[in-house]
Amino acid sequence: MNQDIERVLISEEEIEAAVARVGQQISADFRGKDPIFVGVLKGCFIFMADLMRHVDIHCSMDFMAVSSYAGTSSTGAVKINKDLGQDIEGRHVIIVEDILDSGVTLSYLKNYLMVRHPASITIATLMDKPARRKADVYADYSCFEVPDAFVVGYGLDYNERYRNLPYIGVLKPEIYTSI
Ligand code: IMP
Ligand code: MG
Repeated sequence: MNQDIERVLISEEEIEAAVARVGQQISADFRGKDPIFVGVLKGCFIFMADLMRHVDIHCSMDFMAVSSYAGTSSTGAVKINKDLGQDIEGRHVIIVEDILDSGVTLSYLKNYLMVRHPASITIATLMDKPARRKADVYADYSCFEVPDAFVVGYGLDYNERYRNLPYIGVLKPEIYTSI
């Protein structure tokens, strides 16, 4: 285990099983609908890659990159760093996120894409932290509900580190002050 990790919250095996379950569920719900999966970079990249391999229907995929405007968290303003490369009008959009925390990012993104008139927008998240929710947004598909702790691994970072860990873990408290 990585020396900066205090404990493993979700193991590789647990992730594998839950991602497979959600992939099968999405396949059943969107069969014949040719959905477009929209991954929110960078945190989604491992989840998206694993999820897609459990989706056995026709679909396409694209990515967006977003960041929060510094100092404007109260307004919920989100900066779009990379937009979609294709039209989503009339398409079933499935947003793929690493973690639904305050919900500010996803609520903004949902409204941002809604004006392009997709047939539907649903949210698939690896983790859901409902205790921290500020915006009125919920996950249609969620692999894990997690407690209010900062987690890293399987795509999620702390100061751009730990995205490569194959499991989801909680950092040792001293790491937050040393990086
Ligand atoms: P929200 O807008 O507050 O829902 O924030 C969502 C984004 O914040 C996620 O996509 C993550 O990039 C980041 N984030 C929230 N909680 C965590 C965490 O526990 N670990 C790592 N990143 C997190
Ligand atoms: Mg993210």
